[in-house]
Amino acid sequence: MKRTHMCGRLRAKQEGVDVVVCGWVARRRDLGQLIFITLRDREGVVQLVFDPADTPAPIMEAAAKLRAEFVVAAKGRVRLRPEDMRNKDMETGDVEILVGELEILNEAQAPPFVIVDDVDAMEDLRLRYRYLDLRRPRLQKIFKVRYEACRIIREKLTAQSFMEIETPYLTKSTPEGARDYVVPSRVAPGRFYALPQSPQLFKQLLMVAGYDRYYQIVHCFRDEDLRSDRQPEFTQLDMEASFVDRDDLFAVVEDLMATMIERIKGVRPATPFDRMTYAEAMDRYGSDKPDRRFGLELVKLEEIFANAEFKVIQSALQNGGIVRGLLAPIGSYSRKQMDGLIEYVKPYGAKGIVWGKLVDGAWTGGATKYFSEAEKDALTKTLGAKEGDAFCIIADKPKVVYDSLGALRLKLGKDLELIDASEENLLWVVDFPLLEWDEEDGRYYAMHHPFTSPLPDHVSMMEENPGDVLADAYDIVWNGYEIGGGSIRIHRREIQSRMFTLLGIDEREAVEKFGFFLEALKYGAPPHGGIAFGLDRIVMLLVGTKNIRDVIAFPKTTKAACLMTESPGALMTEQLDELGIVLKVKE
Ligand code: AMO
Repeated sequence: MKRTHMCGRLRAKQEGVDVVVCGWVARRRDLGQLIFITLRDREGVVQLVFDPADTPAPIMEAAAKLRAEFVVAAKGRVRLRPEDMRNKDMETGDVEILVGELEILNEAQAPPFVIVDDVDAMEDLRLRYRYLDLRRPRLQKIFKVRYEACRIIREKLTAQSFMEIETPYLTKSTPEGARDYVVPSRVAPGRFYALPQSPQLFKQLLMVAGYDRYYQIVHCFRDEDLRSDRQPEFTQLDMEASFVDRDDLFAVVEDLMATMIERIKGVRPATPFDRMTYAEAMDRYGSDKPDRRFGLELVKLEEIFANAEFKVIQSALQNGGIVRGLLAPIGSYSRKQMDGLIEYVKPYGAKGIVWGKLVDGAWTGGATKYFSEAEKDALTKTLGAKEGDAFCIIADKPKVVYDSLGALRLKLGKDLELIDASEENLLWVVDFPLLEWDEEDGRYYAMHHPFTSPLPDHVSMMEENPGDVLADAYDIVWNGYEIGGGSIRIHRREIQSRMFTLLGIDEREAVEKFGFFLEALKYGAPPHGGIAFGLDRIVMLLVGTKNIRDVIAFPKTTKAACLMTESPGALMTEQLDELGIVLKVKE
């Protein structure tokens, strides 16, 4: 029996057609004499009917033996279901196949969990049997969206003269700031390749080579703490172009993203996307990836509390801290709920929340007893407070204030259901600082990576005032997720050297780490810039999931393990010997 149709594709217009479908048994129901089978393939499910009035007896017998996940081919005639039996929740719900012939192509053991969308098995079990999990219709839909997104990327970028070029995986350490995954060399014992954290240097070298416009859908490897939107091995859409400024790149990206969202979600977000400086994003949202689908913006309160008696605020200001607050309609929160918010911000470094609520036109509760009347009046005005509102203030070092209030804002936005889930909010965050001071190490680090160019008119202040230099770097944020980031690059050797000096990397170290690249800058590197997107994150947003593992066919756990293949695994002694590796830790 040769397949003629996909199960999930049958519709009323195939009424009366003889078809052959192949797939997996999702469900069997016996109703008196009748047997109903729900058959599943990549495109969806369809109902097979076995009716002794029409189906030959041996086929009825075979049907009675079918169990979940058996693989079958069935031949029969498509017919409309009786009016009152149509299933509106099923795409093929208007029809069914009256089966005349059946072949069991393979039997299946009872699966360790029932393969349905509202599966109740733990994720660990599903990851161990990922090939069964992937049979679920929800995941099948996700991977179609993922593929469609890649198709749109290739179509749009090809039309814009971008060329897809592959770069190596066995390479040297690349500069994205996470730990490397390394691969030992057998040929050169004691030496290691590093898997790329991104193709950053290679794509810049392709610009030096004159390829002008490059892109690649590429795996990147980073050994870092994993989260719900981070995997050790993930996919980037990586791009680079020569003789462009950021406006040129933004235009290409905006058209690509708007088209992708339009084709997959049915709404085209307005272009050009809004732009906001890093400084403004931090000030208003406490985050460089603000979710702007709701308010609860941070408010500057240093002026109001310039002469504060209240110790918490006073000492923060004396220690060079800042005072920021947000106002939310949580005046009805109980003491316990407020304590819950305080506990929530502690992991972000805050020691507590200074709070108060407006009841009968007066500020009460929390820390309000420590405030002067003038401070209270000023708070009402500055915050624009109404009855039923409460404020949450944090006074501390800027990083602590931004991190904790930024997180609190997101939590309240969710808890109070202020987020309009139908909105697609895309934003460029631009003009990041070039450098980030690390208190512990007592040195600067590149905020993006060491090849990012300062803004043209900031180049002259690199030595005098490094902390204030802004970079020609940008991130793209979608509904509060950082989906991409990039920059215009340094293309002149002299500026690159000055950058390394700021980073405390001397010439010898620079040459050791990136010698090949620095040399290339001497051979006519064109002005260039680019961006890389987290493709997995884009797909997460396209399909509406918060779990990155949903959009990766064979993902890893938060411990960077694959439960199916049981990797990482141990090596045989012979393999270690061959590689010249002696283990310090025995398992
Ligand atoms: P960056 O490090 O910002 O830039 O990475 C680009 C985008 O990749 C995604 N991303 C991740 N997604 C899933 N899991 C991870 N562990 C992970 N890490 C990053 C994010 C991020 O915005 N070479 C530069 C780009 C450039 O300058 O052109 C780079 O890699 O969505």
